[in-house]
Amino acid sequence: MKKSFFVSTPIYYPSGNLHIGHTYTTTLADVMARYKKENGYDVFFLTGSDEHGQKIEQKANEVNKSPKEYVDGIVETFKHLWEVLDIQYDRFIRTTDDDHVKAVQKIFSYFLKQDLIYPSEYKGKYCISCEEFLTFEQMDENFCHVVCKNKSIDFQEETYMLRVSNFKKFLQDLFKTNFLEPESRKKEMLNNFIENDLEDLSVSRINFSWGIPVLENSKHVIYVWIDALSNYITALGYGSDDDSMLKKYWSNESEVLQFVGKEITRFHSIYWPIILKSLDLKCPDKLLSHGWILSAGEKMSKSLGNVIDPVQLIEKYTSDAVRFYVINNLPTDRDGNLTQELFEESFNTHLANNVGNLISRVSNMIIKYFDGKLPKIKIDEKHFLVEKGIKTIQEYKKLMDKYNMSEAIQEVLKLSQECNKFIEDSKPWVLEKENKIEELNQVLSILQKNIIIISFLLKPVLTKSYSKMVEQFGVDQNEINFDNLERNEFSYKKIVDKLVLFERIK
Ligand code: ME8
Ligand code: MG
Repeated sequence: MKKSFFVSTPIYYPSGNLHIGHTYTTTLADVMARYKKENGYDVFFLTGSDEHGQKIEQKANEVNKSPKEYVDGIVETFKHLWEVLDIQYDRFIRTTDDDHVKAVQKIFSYFLKQDLIYPSEYKGKYCISCEEFLTFEQMDENFCHVVCKNKSIDFQEETYMLRVSNFKKFLQDLFKTNFLEPESRKKEMLNNFIENDLEDLSVSRINFSWGIPVLENSKHVIYVWIDALSNYITALGYGSDDDSMLKKYWSNESEVLQFVGKEITRFHSIYWPIILKSLDLKCPDKLLSHGWILSAGEKMSKSLGNVIDPVQLIEKYTSDAVRFYVINNLPTDRDGNLTQELFEESFNTHLANNVGNLISRVSNMIIKYFDGKLPKIKIDEKHFLVEKGIKTIQEYKKLMDKYNMSEAIQEVLKLSQECNKFIEDSKPWVLEKENKIEELNQVLSILQKNIIIISFLLKPVLTKSYSKMVEQFGVDQNEINFDNLERNEFSYKKIVDKLVLFERIK
């Protein structure tokens, strides 16, 4: 049987257009999904939209639309972005989808029956923008939420509470495993929320109506985070008549990876595991909580309005360029930056001057010296650059298997640099002048082999350029896979035209 792999992004709020921060998370998931597929996994990649709650209701009111009408329009822009970014998800779940609504109600009813949820009263500070109850440590002296800078409101309501405090021991044990990365976030969660303030959570609201109704008490709608977190399993059929997908992708036979931005780690590492545990389901194998894309030192966000529009970026520079930047230039374990200067510099350095240049130099020499096709010879397996190519494949896989995409790509870029340097050192033009044709063939064959490796390893990122990169050497893109990559027994056809890939940005 094929191994299964499940990967998800957060479901984003349709409270405005998505920006480059969302593009980042979704690209991480897409690249990982594509890599796993290459590796023989049966993959399910989930993304979607988080459509209920007070914030969305307010936004819709502001523009005189019904909430549903309002989100329908924005969700279209989400889907359009994913299309132009070449994101290949398996389901786009909307929390207004019928099957999701029914399943969430089932979950809530079950928790009520189990006495995991009980009627009560809640009083505290609430951030509408983040739909989050805040502890004092999460606010500044003006009671503004430090993450989004919005002023919190005082909240006092009759509500249902989830018995979070019962799960302290469970969470302490869970946090002894490495389910959450990076390590620093684990300490933060333990110190700020688990060891000190592990309070029961208010999980229903009465003062607005845009949410999933509590079946047992129609005055209440279900707290948007309970609704939202459940999407990861309702999308697989939890609570429906058919749970075969759930068995396949959310079980011990499956590897479950979830990407989130660091500001929602609390929900995903505390409340989400409690929900799963209560439903007798496993926790994700890995919750990867990545850093923020900053803008002038602040989190780039819809609520702060300091955003970069990914659609414009894609139109100007291509989807591959955008995918490449966020994967290569933004390691997940820290905050990062994206400005036009940084973007163009990275593109020119890595794609134009390094990889693109290598491909164009080598293919031009094959055309010039060998009329477009290298005579077949036995490549010197002991050559340092041949060994380096093989080692790069292994290193890349090791890093990708740890979800460390940025370093994996950097290994590939290093190989490409070495190839460019090898051209300088071996001087094919001199070999040709001195009529050392066999040696010339060896040099170009080694380079050609490595270019196929480089291209294939970049395939999950450079989804559109990949076919051109290998077809430039007359190799059919479908011919290459991880099993035959090292052997290099591809049917290279004659190269005809000089293609410029990744033209330098001026
Ligand atoms: O939180 N840098 O939705 P949201 C990096 N609906 N990533 C960023 C980012 C930035 N500056 N800004 C946003 C929600 N993101 C909830 C989630 S899940 C059950 C419910 C990304 O629209 C990052 O993944 O506020 C972050 O966690 C997510 O967008 C928040 O999107
Ligand atoms: Mg947010």
